[in-house]
Formats: sequence, structure tokens, C-alpha cells
Amino acid sequence: MDFPFIVNCMIRIRLCLSILLLPIAILSQGLLINTAGRYTTTLNGNWNYIVDPYETGYYSFHSEVYDQTNPGSPSAFYNDYQPKDKAELVEYDFNKSPTLKVPGDWNTQKENLFYYEGTIWLKKSFDYNLTNNKRVFIYFGAVNYKAEVYLNGKKLGTHEGGFTPFNFEISSIVKAKGNYLVVKVDNKRFKEAVPTSNTDWWNYGGITRDVLLIEEPAVFIQDYSIQLKKDNQSVIAGYIQLNNPDKNEKIIISIPELKIEKEIEASTDGKASFEIEVKNSISYWSPEFPKLYSIYIKSGYQTLKDEIGFRTIETKGPDILLNGKSIFLRGICLHEEFKGRRANGDKDALALLTWVKELGCNYIRLAHYPHNEHMIRMADKMGLMVWEEIPVYWSIDFNNKTTYNNAKNQLTELITRDKNRACVIIWSLANETPLSEARNSFLLNLINHSKSLDTTRLLSAALLTRSENGVGLIEDQLGKFMDIISFNQYRGWYGGDLKTAPDAKWATSYDKPVVVSEFGGDAKQGLHGPKEERWNEEYQEYLFEQNLKMIERIPNIRGISPWILTDFRSPRRVLPGIQDGFNRKGLVSDKGVKKKAFFIVQSFYKKIKSQYN
Ligand code: GCU
Repeated sequence: MDFPFIVNCMIRIRLCLSILLLPIAILSQGLLINTAGRYTTTLNGNWNYIVDPYETGYYSFHSEVYDQTNPGSPSAFYNDYQPKDKAELVEYDFNKSPTLKVPGDWNTQKENLFYYEGTIWLKKSFDYNLTNNKRVFIYFGAVNYKAEVYLNGKKLGTHEGGFTPFNFEISSIVKAKGNYLVVKVDNKRFKEAVPTSNTDWWNYGGITRDVLLIEEPAVFIQDYSIQLKKDNQSVIAGYIQLNNPDKNEKIIISIPELKIEKEIEASTDGKASFEIEVKNSISYWSPEFPKLYSIYIKSGYQTLKDEIGFRTIETKGPDILLNGKSIFLRGICLHEEFKGRRANGDKDALALLTWVKELGCNYIRLAHYPHNEHMIRMADKMGLMVWEEIPVYWSIDFNNKTTYNNAKNQLTELITRDKNRACVIIWSLANETPLSEARNSFLLNLINHSKSLDTTRLLSAALLTRSENGVGLIEDQLGKFMDIISFNQYRGWYGGDLKTAPDAKWATSYDKPVVVSEFGGDAKQGLHGPKEERWNEEYQEYLFEQNLKMIERIPNIRGISPWILTDFRSPRRVLPGIQDGFNRKGLVSDKGVKKKAFFIVQSFYKKIKSQYN
């Protein structure tokens, strides 16, 4: 019997023991990052669904919650109960129910679900052969808005927030054959939610992003941060976090192109921090040269690969410095929508960002919530800097602690997922929130939480301004805590005339970069007429011409992100023959046709680019 065999047996025995002894809490905690680099099985595809506006599958007729008072009830939809004989009363049947495509919103898949806001149950059956001493997780890219997840009749947990990933361990529940995964999705809007009940975008419901089974060894690499050390561009620093740690766990980080092979040791809590002095010159990530390095993280049980870019981002007075060079953010805003439906996947990301590149952008503002990971990975590859945002939008319930914890959790999940992406340069904590003490403390707490998770990126928020004696004042007190002072303004659309716009006066007391995070106006693509008449393309074109002349004169201006790349669905926009349920501020129509204003912005960016090179 050779030595390796004995060692192998010992490892297997220890692994089995460690899994059995581990309390569930450790087994099930923590978001897995870099799913693209892991061993996954997709559950994307057709899922059976049951529309359940009265939540019959969740509550008894006396409103008792089945999974708390009578978990095994045949009436609870998550049990996917099959009647034993023809006499038994069961009033639902997933297998005989229609199907929805996952990932995907239900609104645009079924005409009778277009405006539906409520509960829909989705079910997927699958077999899974879990090899011994391995562990398996169920991972959701996002579910809008609230998900309650059950596997084989057992409740795995709940997630609230429609735009960030979450996962549950299912190692002790999954079977080789006949698993049934049931998700209760509820997209009802409500005051205490994040976002609150009033927004200017479509409330797409459903499992709107990928669903994966992720298989891991007993001890696995759950999370890590590998970035340039703040204020030191020749040191790569960060940490590796193991799940189900084992003391004396050795980990090797290798970056072959930089001739880096560094061994570190995790402490008993599974965390190993490191700093690596890089001797070879690093090709820093930039829009012009979006260099990504292959990174390998090797533990005793697995090797995880990722693609990571290295760059510095900082501000100095009114300048934004990327790799030490002053830049101008030539941006555009995007919703997560492609041709009138929730966007997801590499194809949608490539289509949207190809238009962005044609516009001449080096930067995108992903409004008003975290977009899917395909978008961020595509921006990393295509060389587009990114502003990411949590949906603390308009009149959030700032006095509500639960609301705050929800916003904080969404921010945590966003930063956990994307902290290794070089393209992400700004975390944004709000959009157009009304001024109040409660709002200030809510956002200040989020700012502090953001800094506790990541000190390497810039902080901002889309603020509002006010005008006094004809001067636009950029003075929101939150600016004190922001790296970039951003604000939305709609001169020529929600007030203010266009003719005198170029002479408008703006002032700020902040010695910080200023970014106009939104401006624009509606145009129905193909509608033409005099530039004085609202809704036609000539009006929108003139609006951009005049606003750009005005913006160039704003003190400390270092970026813009016009609202918005494409027309997008909004229940607020009901003007017949013009809006028809769409916000028409896109530079591109919802059918993918460029409007005249697209070319105004494009030529402005050509000019700006020459001034900054
Ligand atoms: C606001 C808001 C956007 C909205 C836009 C508009 O600034 O941030 O979400 O769509 O204005 O009114 O079109």
C-alpha cells in the first residue's frame, strides 16, 4: 500500500468527519464569488410556474404560514405534492402547469403577466450525483423582488432585493434522483422596500438571472480580494477566505504573466491576507488597454481561476486620476433592459456595450441597481469604467431600520460580487433622494459600511441641486463624504429654457471632481419637426447641443452620463402614440434605432477625447 494512498484515505476520512461535525450555520453562510471559475451545473431553462395572487400555496385559509405551522402540508406548493389516489384532494400540479424561461422576467414572456405584481411559484426538477466528500450549493444571480426557496419540501431560506446574488448549501438535502426546487417569487412593491414603491422603471418579476448548482470540495475557496494595494501600484494585496477552514491550510496565489507564485497560510478562521511586491512591470488596466491577468488560487483541495485587471483610481482636487493620469468620464446611463425586456447574459451585454463603444464612451453608469455579472465582466473585457449603484432611489423609507439593513445587505452583496473587477471605479449609494436628516444619516451609514468593505474605489451618489438668483448650486451636504460630486439636471426638459442654457451659471464650493450623472429629454424615434416642438428628434438633438455647451462650463466638470442609452419600459410613461409605456429619453430606440441626438453626443466625445489625450 503506497504512501499517497494512505494519505488520500486520511484526507477523505477527515473531510467526511469535518462535514458531519460542522454546524449548519458554517456550512450555509457566505456568498460564493466568481461562479464562472467554479464547477457548476446550470438550472437555466424551462421551469413550471403557478400564478398565486392570494398566496394559497403559502398560507392556510386562516393565514397561517405553512412552512412555520404545518411544513408538510400537501396544500403547501413547495411540497409539490402528488395525490396518492384519485380520491385525494390536491388543487395544484406543477407538472401540468405552463413553463417560463429562467432566467427571464415573467412580464414580457406571458401577455397575461405583463402588469402582474404578486407571487408566482416556479419549480425545477433535477437529478444530482454528489460525489462523496464534496459539497453542493444552489446559487441565484438575482430574483426580483423577494425569494423563498425550498428544496425537496425543506425551506432553504429567504432573500430580499431584486438585483444581487445569493446562495444556499444543499449538501445534506440533495438527492441523486428527483429533486424538486421550488421558489416563491414575490415582486409586490411596498414602501419599506429597496427600491420603494415608486420608481421610473418596469417592475420586472421573476428569476431574472442565472440559477446554478455549484459543487465544491469540503474545504473551498469561498471569497477573495486581489487588487492593487491602495496608494501603491507595485503591490498586489488582499485576502483569501476559505469555507470550512482547516488550520495550517496552505494557499498558493499565482499570476504566471507576472512571474508571481506566492504561498500564504490561512489562520483557523480560514482567512489568509497577503501583500505581493511585483518585480515585473504590470500592464495597468485602462479603457484603451483593458489588460486582464489570469490568476490561479490553489488550496489543498482545489484550484480556482479568475481574470483580474490592475489599476489605480483616485481623485486629486477636481481631477479623477486613472493610473495617475487625469481623465474625463465619457459616459452613458443604462437600465438593465434590452429591446423591452430584462437584459441578461453575454449576448445582451455585448449588444448594449457595442452601442456604448460606438457612442465613443469610456464609462457607463449602471442605473439604478446592480446589473447582472455578465455586464460587469463584459465591461472589464471591453474597457469601460463602471459606476455601480444600489436602488436607494427617490423617497426610500429612511426612518426604517429594516429598510436600512436591506440596503446595507444589497450593498454588501454587490461589493462582495464585484470587488475584483478593475472596470468598477465608483460605488453609488443613492439617486435623487430628498433632503432630510434621516436621509443623511441613512446614507452616511451606508458610506461608512461601503468603506469597511472596499477602500480602493470612489464613492458617489446622484444628488440634486437647487438654483438661487439664477445660479445652479452644487452643494448637497453629502458631498462632504463623497469622492465625486455627481448630480442630475434636466435643463430643457423638466424646466429651464434651452436657448439660454449655454450661458447658465453653476457654482460649487467643493474642490472635487463634478460629474453630471443624468441629463436629457424624450424623443419618439422617427418623429421629426421643428426643434421647438417637444417629443421629436430635432428637439432632443437641440437639447443635447445646448446642454453640452452649458455643461462644458460647469466648474470642475470631469464627466457626464446622459440619460440614457436606450428607451426603456416605465409604467409612468403613458402618453399615447409617443410614450406608450416607454420612457423615450434613449439615444437609441427600444427597437435599436439610433436617434439624431446619438450623433451629437458621439461628436462631443470625439472632441473631449482629443482634449484629454
Ligand atoms: C430621474 C431619474 C431617472 C428617471 C429620469 C426621467 O432623474 O433618476 O430614473 O428615469 O429622471 O425622468 O426620465
